Amino acid sequence: GNAFADTLVLNADAALDVKSGKLIRPATVVVEDNTIVSVSRTNRKAHPQDATVIDLEGHTLLPGLFDMHVHLTGDAQVHGYKRLQRTAPRSAITGVRNAKRTLAAGFTSVRNLGAPGYADLALRDAIYDGDVPGPRIFASGPALGITGGHCDNNLFTHEHKVVAAGVADGPWAVRQKVRENIKYGVDVIKFCATGGVLSKGTKVGAQQYSFEEMQALVAEVHLRGLTVAAHAHGTDGIKSAIRAGVDSVEHVSFLDDEAIALAKKHGTYFSMDIYNTEYILSEGEKAGILPESLDKERKVGGTQRASFSKAVKAGVNMVFGSDGGVYPHGQNGKQFSRMVKFGMNELQALQAATINSATLLKMQDKLGSLEPGKLADIIAVPGNPLEDIQVMETVTMVIKDGKVEVDTRQ
Ligand code: ARG
Repeated sequence: GNAFADTLVLNADAALDVKSGKLIRPATVVVEDNTIVSVSRTNRKAHPQDATVIDLEGHTLLPGLFDMHVHLTGDAQVHGYKRLQRTAPRSAITGVRNAKRTLAAGFTSVRNLGAPGYADLALRDAIYDGDVPGPRIFASGPALGITGGHCDNNLFTHEHKVVAAGVADGPWAVRQKVRENIKYGVDVIKFCATGGVLSKGTKVGAQQYSFEEMQALVAEVHLRGLTVAAHAHGTDGIKSAIRAGVDSVEHVSFLDDEAIALAKKHGTYFSMDIYNTEYILSEGEKAGILPESLDKERKVGGTQRASFSKAVKAGVNMVFGSDGGVYPHGQNGKQFSRMVKFGMNELQALQAATINSATLLKMQDKLGSLEPGKLADIIAVPGNPLEDIQVMETVTMVIKDGKVEVDTRQ
């Protein structure tokens, strides 16, 4: 190794190779500066004298986790009309707290899909500059949507003339909106292909953007070298988004065999927030979620979970996406046990939150697995997640970019 590098040596009961599913045990991971230099069976003699050595008895080391659908600037206690009291600067400050909680839960990378006022970009940059702790954020800024759609703001009457920042109608208008978001620095584009649960007056199963608009939008995003995520619950909207070439579909509640076949043919990733329904139905009313949204949720939640089972069984590309911010940030890890309950094995759930997500972000050369040459985003969990997936809810240590960010043993 490099004589001038800061060396960190992690000794644990095991380390998971998420690609093969094999556990290396006992395991030693050596990090120099921000890069993993080796992952091997423990050989205590091999460590440089001046290294910082951390012993994690009883723990398994995993790559830092990814959540491909969060809203860090949103709060689970603040929904519906309550949200109108929140300015974008206030939301950015809330985001500071939420970023810290998300990182402490072991999520070292997130995709933030939708934030008013580009508050997510401010948060991303503050974390990058080291002002505040948090995950690596891949941020979308305001989500694109049709007039009156799920990504518009429909809480006012026409007299108030409120239109959300991401509203654009027609192929050229959507291209222009994509260009505008890129101009202000987004990493990814999000758009609403169908209605949703939490928006006022939208039909959750109905398509919103036309196929023509989706084609233009996706073409523009790919022309510019970014990736695009489509919010879609209803079957027609899911199929149109896949045919238009989106990189991921979010929620994916109402699936049929043709939609599954299309996703497999196009290599589209599904990002399904199957924990969310439990929080919405138990805590949502207090938080200000509209009665009509609670009604919609009762129709969506169960079907989405059945669709998840079908998609897993069919072998669709799956990532971990939870819609954090609808439920409280930091509880992201709770979704793992639901992913296992509804059809994944433990390894598949962990792959969804690591290597698959890194691949969706086109970051698989740098992130998503514990391998020499990759960035040192590493977490430790107390036990073996291949035997008990619930250990993912109690992350003990979080290392991001080679730096120990969280250590609950102290
Ligand atoms: N943001 C999503 C929407 O409003 C949340 C959906 C939550 N429900 C669910 N079953 N996943 O549509």
